[in-house]
Amino acid sequence: MTLVSSTPMLAAARAGGYCVGAFNVHTLEMLQAVAEAAEEARSPLIIQSTVGTVKHLGADYIAAAAKAAADRSSVPIALHLDHCSDFCIIMQCIRAGYTSIMIDASHDPFEENVAATRKAVEVAEAVGINVEAELGRVGGVEDDIVVDDRDALLADPDECAEFVERTGVHTLAPAIGTAHGIYKGEPNIDFERIGRIASKVGVPLVLHGGSGIPDNQVRRAVALGMSKMNVATELRILFSDAIKSVFAEYPDENDPRKYMVPAKLALKAAAIEKMRVCGSIGRA
Ligand code: 13P
Repeated sequence: MTLVSSTPMLAAARAGGYCVGAFNVHTLEMLQAVAEAAEEARSPLIIQSTVGTVKHLGADYIAAAAKAAADRSSVPIALHLDHCSDFCIIMQCIRAGYTSIMIDASHDPFEENVAATRKAVEVAEAVGINVEAELGRVGGVEDDIVVDDRDALLADPDECAEFVERTGVHTLAPAIGTAHGIYKGEPNIDFERIGRIASKVGVPLVLHGGSGIPDNQVRRAVALGMSKMNVATELRILFSDAIKSVFAEYPDENDPRKYMVPAKLALKAAAIEKMRVCGSIGRA
């Protein structure tokens, strides 16, 4: 297959009452691991990169690797740019072959968020790719975006409806109490708010801050209308931990394949587990 837009993939998830895992990757092996997980689990997949990873690897390298994964795959794979407020980077990624982008102007006043999202939607629709935007503010740390807990704001359901109507955005990430990074305690998810937003907004909703949310809470959020779950921190930690344990046993190891292969296998298994909780296994 070729890389696909996440729009039909997420519409099917919303209609089918399941959720698609969107996994942030930082290396070729991480990208291969989640693609192999999707193939084995017969699950749709969204591969994501942050702006930091675009700057680190290059949008062209990431898109080429994701295209190679999609070519080998018999399940649908989309390539998404996570949290971006820089229109130049959005355009670079679209040009490189990304099939989905997130314009994140959630730090700006509502009217400015509407204007920036509207602009991204116009450009993206010309080339048939998905646009995600955020309302409210998800707390925590994601790449170089840091939102203090005191500044985190939950999304207002009426504003969500107005925002989707005025921007034509395809996918909405409303802040509902999750945070980026590892939770200090349990996340404080406002389930009632998810239900109210889903009842007013027809587009698929995105659960940000997927790391460390207990499985039963993910299932509840999905049942209420979350159709995409972003997971970054947890996967990056377990990938790194697998490498560290090789070096703990073999401190002189100097063949990257010897530490990358166990890390890849660990990430693949974890991605399949997330797909199970999302209910996307067998949905491709
Ligand atoms: P975590 O790092 O908490 O998994 O959040 C990922 C995310 O929401 C990326 O947009």
